[in-house]
Amino acid sequence: MPAKTLLWDQTLFRRGELFEFDYIPEHFVHRDSQLRSLMFGVRPALRGLRALNMMCVGPPGTGKTTAVRKVFEELSEHAQDVVTVHVNCQANQTRYAIFSEIFHRLIGHAPPTSGVSFRKILDEIAKYLIQNEKILIVALDDINYLFHEKEVDNVLYSLLRAYETHPGTKISVITILSDNSLNYIFDPKVGSIFLPEEIFFPRYAWDELKSILSDRVKLGFYQGVMSEDVLDTIVDYTSEAGDLRVGIDLLKRSALGAEQRASTSVSQDDVQSAYQKSRMLHLSRMIATLGSGEQAILAILAEKKESTAGEVYNAFHESTGLGYTRFHTMLGKLAALRLIDTDLTAAGMHGRSRRIKLMYDAEDVLSVVHR
Ligand SMILES: Nc1ncnc2c1ncn2[C@@H]1O[C@H](COP(=O)(O)OP(=O)(O)OP(=O)(O)O)[C@@H](O)[C@H]1O
Ligand SMILES: [Mg+2]
Repeated sequence: MPAKTLLWDQTLFRRGELFEFDYIPEHFVHRDSQLRSLMFGVRPALRGLRALNMMCVGPPGTGKTTAVRKVFEELSEHAQDVVTVHVNCQANQTRYAIFSEIFHRLIGHAPPTSGVSFRKILDEIAKYLIQNEKILIVALDDINYLFHEKEVDNVLYSLLRAYETHPGTKISVITILSDNSLNYIFDPKVGSIFLPEEIFFPRYAWDELKSILSDRVKLGFYQGVMSEDVLDTIVDYTSEAGDLRVGIDLLKRSALGAEQRASTSVSQDDVQSAYQKSRMLHLSRMIATLGSGEQAILAILAEKKESTAGEVYNAFHESTGLGYTRFHTMLGKLAALRLIDTDLTAAGMHGRSRRIKLMYDAEDVLSVVHR
């Protein structure tokens, strides 16, 4: 019989870093067609031409960031004349911050902080690219964070029109967007120069989730730490959330829970208690990608618990000033994300009498919405 208790200095984790979100997996499977499209789009850069602009779209946790990072890794190994910069737009929410980040990555240090104009930063970036004969590809990740005050239009415009003010620069853009916030309409002046190839990242099927998660288990834990049954429970939760991050987080938290009990294997109970935390992580990420109107609807519902579409609309209209058509579209989106449940069969005036129910705990929702 193997010992069932863990000594104080023992661990279940063979390679803990596999359970961090910024870890780039060696085995990146089930995304062949997306990777092929990305490679197709960057290929012109290998021949000294500007790459194609692309837009990666899909629900949270479907491998968009990872796919772009993989392609960038590949380029940095095989294409000396191409420089790639991956920008996290949540951390850099203005045009100035984004260009400072690009400057930093190209030139190796941040621009001097005081009093440098945007124009000067762009000049330096362009000068670097031209003098070193480099082609630049910028990935703007989670661009929904730039939707405020049309910042995204400014950023795209400045990047894609740089060749006019600085002839010889070759810059292209890959935007990454969580599908939850797809309703942004680019300014026409940007629309005419951006024209991205769209690459869609669908949710993973149950079997795909299982193969990805079981891969992490094999590489990341010691043998025998996680039984097939326990893994299946984790895959069920992950599939329900539709977000692979929930699964990776569950693997990590449930194993930590087992360690805390000094057990050598993860139990179903460890998974249940880990899920209380992991589902909050998912909820807050999902809500962060929503617009203020949608968040207002969630806040109203969290306060009322359950009510009719008409009642929620009245409160929504009062707090946002928006009309019924917009409200109706937003309800559809929240329902598609399974944040709310609506009784679609109810008749009544434009369905205003149908009941709407929040699918998450009201307290949990209130703790993450912006009001
Ligand atoms: N096909 C895959 N194989 C292995 N791991 C994967 C795969 N797809 C995603 N992952 C892992 O799942 C996690 C989430 O993936 P990623 O960050 O790329 O998702 P995303 O689509 O960018 O999500 P979001 O829209 O929320 O930013 C990461 O830790 C990544 O390593
Ligand atoms: Mg991402």
